[in-house]
Amino acid sequence: MTITVGFISEISELEQRVALVPETTKKMIKMGWNVIMQAGAGNDAGFVDSAYEGCQIVEDADAVLAAADVNVCISAPTSDYINKMKNDAILVGMVAPFADKQRFDEANKKNITVFSMELVPRTSRAQSMDALSSQASVAGYKAVLMASVAAPRFFPMLTTAAGTIRPSQVFVIGAGVAGLQAIATAKRLGAMVMGYDVRPETVEQIQSLGAKFLDLGVNAVGEGGYARELTDDEKKQQQEAMTEYLKKVDILITTAAVPGRPAPRLITEEMTKNLKPGTVVVDLGAEGGGNVAMTEKGKTVIHGGVTYIGPENLAGSLGLHASEMYSRNVWNLLSLMKDKEGVFGINWEDDILEGSNVTKDGKTVHPMVVEK
Ligand code: NAI
Repeated sequence: MTITVGFISEISELEQRVALVPETTKKMIKMGWNVIMQAGAGNDAGFVDSAYEGCQIVEDADAVLAAADVNVCISAPTSDYINKMKNDAILVGMVAPFADKQRFDEANKKNITVFSMELVPRTSRAQSMDALSSQASVAGYKAVLMASVAAPRFFPMLTTAAGTIRPSQVFVIGAGVAGLQAIATAKRLGAMVMGYDVRPETVEQIQSLGAKFLDLGVNAVGEGGYARELTDDEKKQQQEAMTEYLKKVDILITTAAVPGRPAPRLITEEMTKNLKPGTVVVDLGAEGGGNVAMTEKGKTVIHGGVTYIGPENLAGSLGLHASEMYSRNVWNLLSLMKDKEGVFGINWEDDILEGSNVTKDGKTVHPMVVEK
């Protein structure tokens, strides 16, 4: 069957991305698929309608949702979005699988098959579909730029006629995809960078970027290569060892996360007293409750001369490149749903499709979503 893929403008004000970029829609059309989109959907990301050659462009978002066999979104769809989709359709996107499960009940009523980009297994074969990684690297990059704009100091060492400026000391906590990108970005800006994580394999990864590893003596590897939650004793040990180091920090970027759990609280209010006035903190955990006690989601606040930034949807602020990467991730996932001639069909034996599937045949099927 010839399928129709659809996408609309993202609703949130903080969202500059678009789910599909022209490079991808071109490939879809070449495969013999139809693409329907809302007029202007790519504008904020820098892709004007005329770039989407061969796509059917309509003004009305509802008409897109009702026409598409496969709707692709980038930020989590609402119940209203799902209700406007046609029965038996497919939805692919960053659906926020653990939030507002009522949306999946709505999808099940209409026999909509939902695939979550967040649940794509993190295997070698699935790397090209890993939207968590592509978007986290955007967030890590942007976090450092935000810090550099808010900071009252240079990042690099400068030797000037007005004297020598010492480089900023940047401390990055959590060295997953976002943290490693933050470390690399801070290094490119010329800062002295220290990294920290509870997974031992990150020591080499941090050092390979030219940064130093802060050894606090805590090792907390959990399932699937992710970190596990620390015990109370481990937390205490980590906090005591980290407190002293905070006195030296000019910029603190925190990116620590444990899958399916609130962001671990790493820096207590008491510990923040060791931060110097003028220090800038960017807490990527702010959306999940905060790695740092003083940060507030979506706000910049100042306490004791320290600036605390709690950004929301940082990936959404780098419209063009974040969309390009996401769109390629989606295309690579959808490519598993077609044969060489472009004929569409879902092979449920495929571990990537099975692993990212949230609803199927009128039921919520993903074990992690069912459990929550
Ligand atoms: P994440 O967003 O879940 O967590 C960010 C970082 O926070 C992690 O490095 C974690 O170890 C760290 N963390 C958690 N609790 C902490 C604490 N109390 N103190 C300090 N740091 C703490 O992680 P992300 O970026 O999604 O990736 C992490 C894992 O996924 C790694 O094992 C990585 O190698 C793996 N991965 C695998 C891929 C693949 O095979 N295709 C692709 C990308 C990541």
